[in-house]
Formats: sequence, structure tokens, C-alpha cells
Amino acid sequence: MSFFDIIWNWIDSRAHISDIPLKAMPEYTMDISYWTGGLLAAAFIFQAITGVLLMLYYTPGASTAYSSTQYIINKVPFGIILLNAHLYMAYVMILLIFIHFFRNYYIGAYKKPRELAWIIGILMALVVVGSGFTGYFLPYTEVSVDATDVGVGLASKFPLIGNFLASLITGNGTISSEFGRMLDLHILILPAILMLLFGIHMYLYEKNEATPPVSMKTEQKGSTLSWVPTFLSYTAGITLILWGFVIVIASVFPVPLAPEAGSSVIVQAMPEWYLVAPYKVIDFVPISSNIIYILLVIVIFYMLVPFFDRSESRDPKDRPFFVSIVTVNLDYFILFTIWGYLQPAVQVQPVVWIPIMLGIIAFNFGLTYGLYYKYRKVTPTGSERNSFTHSNTKNKKQHFSDASDCNDKKEGVDK
Ligand code: HEM
Repeated sequence: MSFFDIIWNWIDSRAHISDIPLKAMPEYTMDISYWTGGLLAAAFIFQAITGVLLMLYYTPGASTAYSSTQYIINKVPFGIILLNAHLYMAYVMILLIFIHFFRNYYIGAYKKPRELAWIIGILMALVVVGSGFTGYFLPYTEVSVDATDVGVGLASKFPLIGNFLASLITGNGTISSEFGRMLDLHILILPAILMLLFGIHMYLYEKNEATPPVSMKTEQKGSTLSWVPTFLSYTAGITLILWGFVIVIASVFPVPLAPEAGSSVIVQAMPEWYLVAPYKVIDFVPISSNIIYILLVIVIFYMLVPFFDRSESRDPKDRPFFVSIVTVNLDYFILFTIWGYLQPAVQVQPVVWIPIMLGIIAFNFGLTYGLYYKYRKVTPTGSERNSFTHSNTKNKKQHFSDASDCNDKKEGVDK
């Protein structure tokens, strides 16, 4: 028995940690692709800890927000690392949401019985973006205040609840009331909603279990590993690696504080990087508030995608239509983000953007469907082909029935 086993057994015999009713997990989940959500949870805990520490020094208000942020950077021991680690982890969280979203989309994890976990996930993504938006305002820099004004203006155009949303952010319109609202949303209301949704998300995950790899045709689990201590130590390990990585990046590459709001410096309003793409699309549409409708359609589409994609197979190779849609969106996001940084707030004429957007659609659909039609025939793999040639008649019959099973499955493919 190793030293760690002795320590662990001692703790477990007192604290009964291994009795915690967390299900044993399939062995295939011992793979980082199954932990994008776990990393997100680790990032959230980091934000809560660093956020509480920042609140010890930060003072909201038009005359104090910027100076207290400067105080954190220049006077508080390790304050510059604390502030930057909070900022970088917010970026990592958004990046992880993208990765978690695309990973679950491509492997069809939204399909029955995980539709609800998927919908809750989309809501969580919106809450995280809301947290980023409200946090951006707090240091009260020129660039962040301008970007917030643009955001509030657009929120007010939201159908039916636009005015409510805008007043939720700005309060009675005075700057002190706006600070109060932004801070309450950032440190209290949105984190509380996120925790509630996370609890439901995890409950559903615990009940429905992890989506098996696409190569597995059924929901079978195979061999399992116990949560405690195997997955507990795995979670602790990846959490510490993530936290360490962000602290190092924050120490080596601190982001300089932009000029204070109201200073004479003229800056271009620019949202955080993950909102630059929709910000650029405003330059495409004649009425800027139309971006709200575009975003609404995108969010509703992805919320309801489990009900649109009715194919039985989760394999991306069998779902060319839905794979093309999300890949087009990913391409648009990357393109408009780069474009937004290069030419912010520069109008783009339909004669320029329409061919580009159509070209991306044609390219992605062409490529995905091309590959789909090329590989859609079920061909036996090398080893299967051997067994096919050398096995007895009974085995051959079995192989035929397997192949026809696969062909049957293809009938459930999206068109
Ligand atoms: C703050 C945001 C989020 C957190 C903290 C979170 C957390 C988690 C965790 C810990 C898991 C367990 C397995 C894993 O790590 O993958 C999970 C699974 C899952 N999440 Fe999320 N998630 C978030 C956002 C989202 C989003 C945006 C979506 C998609 C719209 C989503 C959809 C799912 C689905 C479908 C599963 C089940 C995956 C499977 O069966 O393998 N989640 N989430």
C-alpha cells in the first residue's frame, strides 16, 4: 500500500467520501474531451474566489471605480496578477463554452435523452456572456463604457422586453444607479442563476450519464471506474493545471488598463473579443438593431436543434446538414471577429458581404456533402474484411446482418 493510499484510507474512513453517491463513470470518460464541462466548472470556481478577493479593494462609482482598479494593480500585493487572472479566466471560460458547445454538438450529445441538459447549457452560455458584459463595464474605462452603451442601446431594441432589459442594466439612468445594477448583476444575480442552472445541468448529467463515443452504437457503458478517488483526483489534477496555466499567463502578459472614461483620449468603442463578431455584423445591416433579431434566431435555433435533428445516428458523418450549419456559423464567427478588429464600425455594402457569406455556405455544404456521399457506403474495415473472407458460413450470415443493420441506420440520416 502506497503512502497516498494510507493517507486516503485514513481520510475516507473518517469522512466517508467514497460513500458520496456519485456514479461510477465509464472508462471511456477518462479522456480530456469528456472534461470540457468540468474545466468550465473549475473556471467558474476560480472566478468566484478571485472575484471575492477583488471586491475587497474595488469601489464602484464614477469617481472611484477607475482609481480603485489602479490601486489593485499598483498597490495591492499580487493585485495585478489577481486582476489579470480574473480577466484571463473570463476569456478562458468563454473559449471553453465554445469548445464544450462544439464538442457536444458534433458528437450529437444533444440527442435524446440529453435535450434538457443541452437547453440548460445554452442558457448557461447566455448567463456567462452576460457576466462578461457586466464585468467589462466595472473598471470604467473609456472603451468599456462606450461598448456598454452600444450594448444597452441594442438591448433596448429587444422585442417585447427591450425597455425592461435596458432599465435592468441602467436603473434610473444615473451613473451611480448603473454601477449598482452592473455590480449586482455581475457578482450576485448572474452567478446565482449560473449556480442554479449548473446544479440542474449536473443532475441531468448524473441521471443520463455521459454520451458514449460515436463509434459505440448503443448507450452501453462498458467497464467503469469509481468516482472517488479516480475521477476526483483527475478533476483535481485538471483544475490545478488550468488554474496554474491562467495564473502564469496573467503574470507574464498583464493587460494594460485603458484610459479612464470621460478622459480626453478618443478611442474606438470595442467590445470584448467574443462580441466583436456580432458588433461587426451591425455594419452589414441597414438598421443596427436588426442584429438583435439575428442573434435571437441563432439562439432559438440552437436551443431547439435537438428537436430538428431527428436522425438516429449521433455520428457527424451521418448528419451532414447539421454539421454544415454549425461549421458555417463557426466560420462566420472567426471571419467577422477578424474583420471586426481590422475594420471596426466601417459600413460594408451588401455587394461585398452577400457573396462572401454565400461562398462560405456553398463551400461548407459542398465539402460536407461531398465527403458524406463519398463515404456513405458501409464498407467493411480491414479486420472485418478478413473475418468475412475466412470465417464460416454462420459468421458470414452474421456479418451480412450487421451490415444491413448499418444500412438501416442510414435511413435515419438527416437530409
Ligand atoms: C458555464 C457553462 C457550463 C458548464 C459549467 C457546464 C458543465 C458541464 C459538465 C461539468 C458536464 C459533464 C461532462 C463534461 O465535462 O463534459 C457537462 C455536460 C454537458 N453539457 Fe455542459 N456546461 C456548460 C455549458 C454548456 C453548454 C453551452 C452546452 C451546450 C449548449 C452544454 C451541454 C452539455 C451537454 C449536452 C452535456 C452532456 C455531455 C455528455 O453526455 O457527454 N453545456 N456540462
